Amino acid sequence: MAEVKLKNVIKKFEDVEAVKNINLTVKDGEFLVLVGPSGCGKSTTLRLVAGLESCTSGEIFIGDTLVNDISPKDRDISMVFQNYALYPHMTVYDNLAFGLKMRKYDKEKIDERVKDAAEILQITPLMDRKPKQLSGGQQQRVALGRAIVRDPNVFLFDEPLSNLDAKLRVDMRTEIKKIHKKIQSTIIYVTHDQTEAMTLGDRIAVMEDGMIHQLNSPIEVYDSPADKFVAGFIGSPAMNFFETNIDGGKIYFEDKKYSLPIIEKHENVLSGDREKVTMGIRPEDLHLKKKGEVFFPLEVKVEVVETMGDEVILYLLAGNDKLTCKTTQYYPELEQKNKLTVFVDMDQVHFFDDETGKTLV
Ligand SMILES: Nc1ncnc2c1ncn2[C@@H]1O[C@H](COP(=O)(O)OP(=O)(O)OP(=O)(O)O)[C@@H](O)[C@H]1O
Ligand SMILES: [Mg+2]
Repeated sequence: MAEVKLKNVIKKFEDVEAVKNINLTVKDGEFLVLVGPSGCGKSTTLRLVAGLESCTSGEIFIGDTLVNDISPKDRDISMVFQNYALYPHMTVYDNLAFGLKMRKYDKEKIDERVKDAAEILQITPLMDRKPKQLSGGQQQRVALGRAIVRDPNVFLFDEPLSNLDAKLRVDMRTEIKKIHKKIQSTIIYVTHDQTEAMTLGDRIAVMEDGMIHQLNSPIEVYDSPADKFVAGFIGSPAMNFFETNIDGGKIYFEDKKYSLPIIEKHENVLSGDREKVTMGIRPEDLHLKKKGEVFFPLEVKVEVVETMGDEVILYLLAGNDKLTCKTTQYYPELEQKNKLTVFVDMDQVHFFDDETGKTLV
């Protein structure tokens, strides 16, 4: 069993509380992604699991073993970092074999492991080359290979793709997914890239400021964000947010210019004595045509039109509120327009408590 469990884990660096009471269970064989903005404590969390940092308080288990006092080399984990620093004077083969030699594996065992790993990563033809004779993507494969030859129960990845160019990142992303399918180890993967998080994770933990805001499958995080932070962090372009006012059982938008239609599932927004509520709508839930009963029209000013080929991103102004709309319905006149009516699909609207940021709907 290679479940990884963090119980009430806290890590302080003098006055910085990098990890604030994290509770997290990564299931055996699960691909779990830790995602969040820079400085939120992702690497620290990973380094705690690896044993490269010690907990200020709390417990970490790998399988059934409490590992707090077990040294990194005895934790049955492999870690891949962003700077994958291969040994420059060694061939690919020797880079792969090095860790096993240090652990005093016998020669045949090493040869078998190295060849298996090379096969999985499709680097067999590169075995005699030195790192500088490899492309960035090939080097990254060797770095992954170095981790998988050890056949550990748990892999820890810290932004392993962030040094690669955009195209290669996408290729390696699918490679990593395939490798996980094949070897079925438990993986904890750190990234600040939400696309990587969404595409790789069985579940993703969205972190901010040393805390986990939400831990769910990518779809659940996207469709039902736990709070405004998660809603704004996951999704590109980001969700649009507006301040709205509640008065006499109605929700008003843009200084009472519009009163929004309330549908049944929004009724609890009106309960209590709230006077304000934050409304969120994803760019793809703003439409150029009315397609349903609960599509609410908004008059907007067009600021910028970005044509991406398969989709168009419109940067708009509704009163003083900025608004982004993502659509596939491109037509050339769009670029000439100053004003436009867009339709909010009220069925897809989210509401967040103004003070706590927690999701109401
Ligand atoms: N050794 C250290 N000493 C003091 N503070 C540290 C140390 N390591 C990390 N921190 C602080 O802890 C917080 C979390 O850092 P961490 O490296 O875990 O963030 P991160 O989420 O990995 O960010 P990034 O996406 O930029 O890599 C930051 O405020 C950082 O400055
Ligand atoms: Mg980091």
